[in-house]
Amino acid sequence: MKKTSITGHRQDYSKHSLDEASADKNPIRQFSEWLEQASQSGVKEPHAFTLSTASRSGKPSARILLLRDVGEKGFIFYTNYNSRKGAQLKENPFAAMTFFWQSVERQVRVEGKVIKLSAALSDKYFNSRPYASRVSAVASPQSKVVKNRQWLEESHEALLEKYPNENVPRPAHWGGYLLIPSQIEFWQGRPNRLHDRLRYTLRGGKWKMERLAP
Ligand SMILES: Cc1cc2nc3c(=O)[nH]c(=O)nc-3n(C[C@H](O)[C@H](O)[C@H](O)COP(=O)(O)O)c2cc1C
Repeated sequence: MKKTSITGHRQDYSKHSLDEASADKNPIRQFSEWLEQASQSGVKEPHAFTLSTASRSGKPSARILLLRDVGEKGFIFYTNYNSRKGAQLKENPFAAMTFFWQSVERQVRVEGKVIKLSAALSDKYFNSRPYASRVSAVASPQSKVVKNRQWLEESHEALLEKYPNENVPRPAHWGGYLLIPSQIEFWQGRPNRLHDRLRYTLRGGKWKMERLAP
C-alpha cells in the first residue's frame, strides 16, 4: 500500500488576506461573513466545528459538532447533556470551538463560557428535527457503553412503535448550549507562513482587536 508522506506535505496559502481596516469591528458579524463565504466556496459542512472541553482537573477532550445558530448572544449547538462533553461542561463551563474552512484557507477559534439554552428554545429546535433523528436522540444514551449495535437498533425500533404518530417529546437530557464568547480569533493563511491572525477580546463590554504573530 502506498504511504502518504506526512513530513513532506507542504501547502502554501495565497487566496485571501485579512487586515485591521477591512475586518468588521464586530467579530460576530465577521464570523457570519466568513461562514457565508466558506459555504459559497464549497466547504461541505461549514457549520462543523471542534468543541474542546475539559474536566475540573483540566483533562481535555474534543469532538466535532454542528453549529445551529449564531448571533450577538453567542454560538448555539445541541447535544446530550449526559454525554461526556455534557459532564465536562457541568464541571467546567469554559470551552473552545474551532472551525477549519480549507477551501478559503481559514480557521476561526472561539473561546468562552457555556450555559444551557432555555427549555423552550431546546423544544423548538428538537421539534424541528426529522422524526427519526428525534427518536435517535431519545434512544441513544450518548457516550455510555452499550452491549452491541443490535441493542441500539432494538431500542430505536421500540421507540418508533411507542411514538407512531411522530409526537416524540424532547427528553430532559437533550438540548442546546450557548457559548458566550470572550475571545474570537480569525486566521487567514498567507504565503510563506506569514499568516494573518486577528484576535478580538471582550474588555469592559467592548471588542478589542489585536494582530497576533503567526
Ligand atoms: C460532522 C459531525 C457532526 C456532529 N454533530 C453533532 C452534534 O451536533 N451534536 C452531537 O451531540 N454530536 C455530534 N456529532 C458526534 C460527536 O462528534 C460525538 O461523537 C458525540 O457528541 C459524543 O461526544 P462526547 O462523548 O465527547 O460527549 C457529530 C459528529 C460529526 C463527525
